[in-house]
Amino acid sequence: MQTLTNKRILLGITGGIAAYKAAELVRRFQDQGAEVQVVMTKGATEFITPLTLQALSNHPVHLDLLNTETESAMGHIELARWADLIIVAPATADFIARMALGRGDDLLTTLCLAAECRIAIAPAMNQAMWAKQATQENCQHLLDRNISIFGPEEGLQACGETGVGRLLDIDEIVIEAASLFSSNLLTGVKVLITAGPTREAIDPVRYISNHSSGKQGFALAQAALEAGAIVTLVSGPTNLDPPDRATLVPIISATQMYDAVMAEVADTDIFIGVAAVADYRPAKVQTQKIKKNPAASNKSMTLDLVENPDIIAAVANSEKRPFTVGFAAETDHLIEYARKKLEQKNLDVIVANNVADTAIGFNSDNNQTTVLWENHVEELPMMSKSNISIRIIELISERFNLASQ
Ligand code: CTP
Repeated sequence: MQTLTNKRILLGITGGIAAYKAAELVRRFQDQGAEVQVVMTKGATEFITPLTLQALSNHPVHLDLLNTETESAMGHIELARWADLIIVAPATADFIARMALGRGDDLLTTLCLAAECRIAIAPAMNQAMWAKQATQENCQHLLDRNISIFGPEEGLQACGETGVGRLLDIDEIVIEAASLFSSNLLTGVKVLITAGPTREAIDPVRYISNHSSGKQGFALAQAALEAGAIVTLVSGPTNLDPPDRATLVPIISATQMYDAVMAEVADTDIFIGVAAVADYRPAKVQTQKIKKNPAASNKSMTLDLVENPDIIAAVANSEKRPFTVGFAAETDHLIEYARKKLEQKNLDVIVANNVADTAIGFNSDNNQTTVLWENHVEELPMMSKSNISIRIIELISERFNLASQ
């Protein structure tokens, strides 16, 4: 089973003899379904070449903080946002000290400062350096800031000494990294998610739809799975692979989505409506392709539309109502409109996002959202859709647990 499916891992390599093991780590992360990009400190390049890591990761290796070429390809802030996890392996004593001080004197430390995602380090150094009070105090500072430390382990070292300081076994690092994403917050909870667009047929070749990519809904399904939930994903047409352990119910139109959701709702604990459901559909689907009518005097044609069922409102008002979470895609008056939908659709939580901003909108990999419930408003900073999903699932499970008490 792949445990890091669709996760974006930024692997930082610093200058120690164990740097050669990072090549293997890239492969193991990829085996678990992760996409990996590599950042190397100057010292690391003395131990293993960027070319090796570039070939293995299929991405250019990031080396410099102030490089006009790499900055234009992917700036350091963008790179920090891209990552779901930054893991520094091996992390030298010097790197740990610079990180503990909150320095930003090279690309890797700057990325760690700029990142909103999880950060982990796997220290590797001589046993005496590891045992030194300075190193231990620095590690304690990092732990206090919620940075995870994997290893080191005991054994024979490159310097010929034996003791604690060896890089943790590569497979163990992968297991520890995967465990950072599983929270058990929703163990056994049944979660039903709608995602993607719907398509409303006009005739056999045409339809009305929207720009929804499905990315946010699929990322939420993945995050719910990682939290231990049993997930059913009712999705309109997308180009995405569904998360491994989710039950996918593919649909095309809003009425099909409605039927699929209503068939499941009585057996659902949490419903999350992420789909961009078409509000209207053609009143009549033509059985044959509509032909152009050059004789029409006003050069126009009119489509008669009828309203689609409001799926989430139906769920929120169903007899055995699940905890119901909506999404509000707005181009203006974000909070005001989202709050209105929260109340009018009888939702427990609503997640609002601004789809007018192309940096975070429908097809983007990033998102910036505001989560609203009752009298609360919580803004989440811009992050990857995968990372923001973990935060949203944390918030939802908090509210769900309170509501179920
Ligand atoms: N939704 C739904 N069924 C519909 C329309 C919307 O379940 N027929 C859900 C969406 O999945 C989302 C929430 O309602 O969780 C808000 O969707 P949105 O498109 O932002 O709102 P609408 O109700 O369609 O209002 P408007 O288009 O006027 O903004």
